[in-house]
Amino acid sequence: MSLLITFEGPEGSGKTTQIRLLGAALADRGEAVLLTREPGGTPLGDAIRGLLLDPAFTTMSPRAETLLFQAARAQLVDTVVRPALAAGQVVLCDRYIDSTLAYQGYGHGQLLTALRQLGDYATGGLLPALTLYLDIDVHTGLERKRRGAAEEWNRMESQAAAFHQRVRQGYLALAAADPGRWCLLDAGQPVEVLHSLVLDRVAVLLAERRPPPARG
Ligand code: TYD
Repeated sequence: MSLLITFEGPEGSGKTTQIRLLGAALADRGEAVLLTREPGGTPLGDAIRGLLLDPAFTTMSPRAETLLFQAARAQLVDTVVRPALAAGQVVLCDRYIDSTLAYQGYGHGQLLTALRQLGDYATGGLLPALTLYLDIDVHTGLERKRRGAAEEWNRMESQAAAFHQRVRQGYLALAAADPGRWCLLDAGQPVEVLHSLVLDRVAVLLAERRPPPARG
């Protein structure tokens, strides 16, 4: 079924684990599923990702940063997401436009109206049907990341704790402002419990979208 679902969350919220579990569960149910992520998901996007996460660029201007994220996004939407949706696939994307609002907007203080316009331009107005937000307190999330592989520690994560607090508060504000699209879940729960909550919410969406069986 043609559907775009995004995952959002602060650092260490476990999105990557949950997106994989959801992808496998949907595939088991016979859905054609495409998993992708931002920044990245295309050769150009992966090259841009390398620039964005490189700790060498400590002084990257927030506007330059914003535009690089949007460039990677435009490439992903045009060459991967739209074709997959046109082919009737369920697209699961690890981060999307809301990451820019949370990180560059609430985190770095860039104007939300400008970011929304840029996001609209980059995606051609493509919004997710559902955004699963995995909420975790900043300290726990950063600790989870630090315990992970050393190479995963990147330029964004080395921002001050206050930055990550603003990101989280931003996400909570975005989720509260649009409860129809956002589903807020506590990422502190065991992986399997969280997975079943994610699956329940997505099953509701699939049932809503599925055309009623033909009569007679
Ligand atoms: P990644 O290692 O993929 O982190 P995660 O596993 O938490 O998704 O790195 C992506 C980083 O880029 C992450 O810190 C969030 C940040 N980011 C933004 O600041 N703005 C954006 O628009 C996107 C897509 C990501």
